[in-house]
Formats: sequence, structure tokens, C-alpha cells
Amino acid sequence: MLKTAMTELFGVKHPIVQGGMQWVGKAELISAVANAGALGFLTALTQPTPEALSKEIKRCQDMTDMPFGVNLTILPTINPTPYDEYMDAIVQGGIKIVETAGRNPEPYLPLLKKNGVKVIHKCTSVRHGVKSEKVGCDAVSMDGFECAGHPGEDDVPNLVLLPAAADQLTIPMVASGGFGDGRGLVAALALGACGINMGTRFMCTKESPVHDNVKQALVKASERDTQLVYRKFRNTARIHKNSIAEEIHEIETTKPDATFEDIRHLAAGTRGASVYETGDIEAGVWSAGMVQGIINDVPTCAELVSRIVEEAEEIIERQKAMIAA
Ligand SMILES: Cc1cc2nc3c(=O)[nH]c(=O)nc-3n(C[C@H](O)[C@H](O)[C@H](O)COP(=O)(O)O)c2cc1C
Repeated sequence: MLKTAMTELFGVKHPIVQGGMQWVGKAELISAVANAGALGFLTALTQPTPEALSKEIKRCQDMTDMPFGVNLTILPTINPTPYDEYMDAIVQGGIKIVETAGRNPEPYLPLLKKNGVKVIHKCTSVRHGVKSEKVGCDAVSMDGFECAGHPGEDDVPNLVLLPAAADQLTIPMVASGGFGDGRGLVAALALGACGINMGTRFMCTKESPVHDNVKQALVKASERDTQLVYRKFRNTARIHKNSIAEEIHEIETTKPDATFEDIRHLAAGTRGASVYETGDIEAGVWSAGMVQGIINDVPTCAELVSRIVEEAEEIIERQKAMIAA
């Protein structure tokens, strides 16, 4: 058993988190992660309305008695989003752990604290981590340059980002981006984190509600098969490298006056969603991290979580024995 500040804070068995994932973070996956003893987050904005989110929370509660949370990501979106109403649905659904991302969650903290909700904020830089602690977040998730989704604009990988952040934070820090096995978990603990957050690795599990073609694409892909896009608009995202990713990258880097309008038709979320539903991996953009290079199978969440913890424990024991010798 690896007991850390993270397992204590959130009341979960293992120091492993499944971060919010647009179109993927649904009840089937989150309940499987929770039942495996890790901490899963439903993704609020995957539900079309706050009312639909309330139903999804209830559905997940019916599938597990273990703790789970909800991710609310506040980012520039193509259509305006009723964030306050989503947050109300989270609180009224009895959720006690919230993962925020995108913007400073400060405006929501009074409501969340009043309702006994613990807040973990996803950051991509030391300064944002420090700010999160200052405004009253309970923990941070530190997303390095390797991560799927939005790595920020600083391009600092976790080997430096995590210890740099650990030196300045007193609240628990979860390491995020590039983690997929027990080796990563031990490394994260060594670098000052108290657990790991994984997106891509959990997307490639049996219970993940995406088409099998997507999972097979992740198994096949190497660590070089991701593409950074939207850099020109200071909203960088790391996605799986397919023909659409390459087309967006080409427009951004070769058209000096390119605006978001030039790529809007390629970037539409509905196209990304259709990848997961139809299994046409070229149909739109879809997030994936460099960690896909070390993903070689499609286990259940329970198999994955116990494998990671066992491998981490073995490594720790082996290192102790080596040092003793
Ligand atoms: C398909 C997918 C969708 C994601 N969507 C979100 C999201 O909506 N909000 C968010 O905060 N993070 C999102 N992320 C990022 C993950 O929560 C996590 O921080 C990231 O995947 C960690 O990097 P890794 O993929 O190397 O494990 C997404 C990741 C993936 C793979």
C-alpha cells in the first residue's frame, strides 16, 4: 500500500488519478477507476447541459460506492458555456472533490468550500501552482510538457517542473503528463509529488468509452506521434498526430496572418467526438500524450491500477535492497 498525502486528502486507496477527459470522462470509466481504488473525474463539459451532468453524476454514483470527482475545465470555447450552472450541478450532486483546469478557480472557491468540496487545480507552471495554493486550493495537479491536452506555453517537462514546483508548494502535488506505469509513479514520488494523474493511459483501458480503433491507435503509436497545435493562438494543445493535426499545424506555421477562423472547421469538438464514436481516427482532432509510446495493451482499470502499484512497490523494494547491499 502506498499511502501518501494524496490518498489521505481524498480518501482513496491508491495515489493514482484519472484526470478530466473531454468526451471520454463518462460514468463507465470513472466508476471503474473508483472501483479500482484510484480517483476518477467525470468531465462536466462532456455533458451537453448542467441537467445532463446531474444525471451523469447520479449514474456514476449508482455504479460505485467509492469516492470520485468532477472536472470543470474553463477554457475559451467555440460556444459560450454556463460554467456557474455546471458548478451548481456538481455541488448539488453531492460531489466532494473537484478538479478545475484552464482558469484560476478562485471565484468558485467560496461555494466549494462552503459545501465541503476539496479542490485540485490543474496547473502547467510553478507560478500557477503557487497562485493556486495562495487562493486556497487543497492540492494541485502539475501538467508537464509531455501531457495530452493543454500543456501551457512554457514547455517545461516534468523532470524539471515537478521538483521546481515541489520546492515552492506546501499543499499536495500530483504529477501529471507522461505517466503510464509503476516506473513513472516511483519517479513522480522521487520528484516531490504524492501521486500521478493519467489521461491517455486511462483512455486506453477496457472500460474507456471510446471506439476500439482509438485504443489500437494508442497501442501502435510511438512517443513521437503527437502534434502541438493552436500554439499561434496561445492555447497550445497536444493531440494525436493524424492528417487533421498535420493540416492545422501546416496552416498555423505557414500562413503568417492565420486566425482561428482558418482552422475552426478542422478543430470543431464535434469532429473530435465522432472519432471516439465511429472509430475513424482521421475524422477530427483528439487529445493524446507522448506516453502513448509506452502504452502496449488495453487492460481493465483494475488491472492497470494494481499493476502500476505493484510495479512501483517492487521498484522501491529493489532500490532499498541495492542501497542496503
Ligand atoms: C482525450 C483527452 C481529453 C482531455 N480533456 C481534458 C479536459 O477536458 N480537461 C482537462 O482538464 N484535461 C483534459 N485532458 C488532460 C488530462 O486530464 C491529463 O491532464 C493529461 O492527459 C495528462 O497527460 P497524459 O495524457 O500524458 O497522462 C484530456 C486528456 C485526454 C487524453
